[in-house]
Amino acid sequence: MKMDQRHLWIGGKWKQAERYESLLSPYSGEAIAKVAQATKENAKEAIEVAHQAFLSFKQIPAYQRAEILYQAVHLLEQRKEEAARIIAMEAAKPIRNARLELDRTIQTYQFAAEEAKRIVGERIPMDAAIGGENRIGFTLRFPVGVVTAITPFNFPFNLVAHKVGPAIAAGNTIVLKPAEKTPLSALFLAELFQKAGLPDGVLNIIPGRGPELGETLVTHPHVKKVTFTGSPEVGKEIHKMAEFRKITLELGSNSALIVDQGTEISGMIDRVVEGAFSYNGQVCISIQRIYVHHTLYEAFLHELVERTKRLKIGSPLDEDTMITALINQKAAHRIHAWIEEAVQAGAELVYGGTLEGNVLVPAILTQVPHHSKLIQQEVFGPVVNVLPYDHLDEVIGWVNDSRYGLNAGVYTHDLRTAFSCIHQIETGGVLINDIPTFRLDHMPYGGIKDSGIGREGIQYAIREMMVEKLVSFHWR
Ligand code: SIN
Repeated sequence: MKMDQRHLWIGGKWKQAERYESLLSPYSGEAIAKVAQATKENAKEAIEVAHQAFLSFKQIPAYQRAEILYQAVHLLEQRKEEAARIIAMEAAKPIRNARLELDRTIQTYQFAAEEAKRIVGERIPMDAAIGGENRIGFTLRFPVGVVTAITPFNFPFNLVAHKVGPAIAAGNTIVLKPAEKTPLSALFLAELFQKAGLPDGVLNIIPGRGPELGETLVTHPHVKKVTFTGSPEVGKEIHKMAEFRKITLELGSNSALIVDQGTEISGMIDRVVEGAFSYNGQVCISIQRIYVHHTLYEAFLHELVERTKRLKIGSPLDEDTMITALINQKAAHRIHAWIEEAVQAGAELVYGGTLEGNVLVPAILTQVPHHSKLIQQEVFGPVVNVLPYDHLDEVIGWVNDSRYGLNAGVYTHDLRTAFSCIHQIETGGVLINDIPTFRLDHMPYGGIKDSGIGREGIQYAIREMMVEKLVSFHWR
């Protein structure tokens, strides 16, 4: 990729910004582009443009919105390798994970195209209540208007697709502020969607950062829906500022996995390694806590360490790399300090945990105190804590004793254990005989507690980007 200047995308045109910042590769430290930094005024302009575009875009029939999305799928398929290399460069995502992300992104837009044609309401049985006789009741769904989307660095194509895809499918217009570390993936979409036939002004992309920009994106009177993926701290601010606007917040997690007695370790351990360390654990549903029945604990820990040792560390652009630099030095130092703090509090570091530049060797710890940050907070790094348990009630209690509640995984052969977990674990998703990191892009996805509000997964996101209107038709 050549080192070039990337501007703001507003109203179907590139627009110069007042200020540009160098974007550095997290792995090599090299500058890879100079990227426009939107001001509050740019955000206002983008929102106005999106508002104007909405007045006509909302009239476009579903089959045409679907066709635009299918065209985008087609164009993305043709440029998949180029897009994957952008992710590898700017996000330091190992190239093979980046390609997998592109496969998912293509599917996400495909789902959006399909769902655009399935937007339905409900028929209400009006005569179920006295006074409802001779009435036909139904609901219709209408696009909400301007949607602002604030996206994270960890899936710079697919988590953008989870906001842009449903917004277009629903007939909304969008102002997208991508993560400051991964603006190039988002800007890649600008001309691609234009070529796919998206009318100018429907998708506006404004990289930037800072509270003023964020506040404008949330509080401008034309903004009708805010969809955000990121930290609970920022999520709380958005929640406060958004007042009566619709919001979707996909926030953090310290996801847990329970490994029940009788589980065949050899059949699942590679998946656990993937769930804990894929993209250096910089995934909201990365496995952070593993509770293993005491009968399997020693064997499980041994296998986990042996498999983790095989993970190849290197450049994100090397074909066989699995572990590479964390997103920045600040994250690397924070995670390393949390490991040291846990060790001082009595944890045992069984494997890894050393820092070389921004690369943290995957860390496996045991005997980690329940109150430590490694258990209670979201690590968002290649760290996993393995702890033994004796009884199901005890372990469900530990899983639930958390500010987060996104996904949990349970390996068990016992149906009663599975259903106890399904009923009692306080998360948005329970994955039986799978890792909490398992996600298909059409599944409902979202959390409770500090993990957020609302659900993504295309048809669920579309619903949250529309307003439902009741029609009562008195026919006699
Ligand atoms: C996330 O990190 O929130 C998304 C995880 C995924 O889509 O696999």
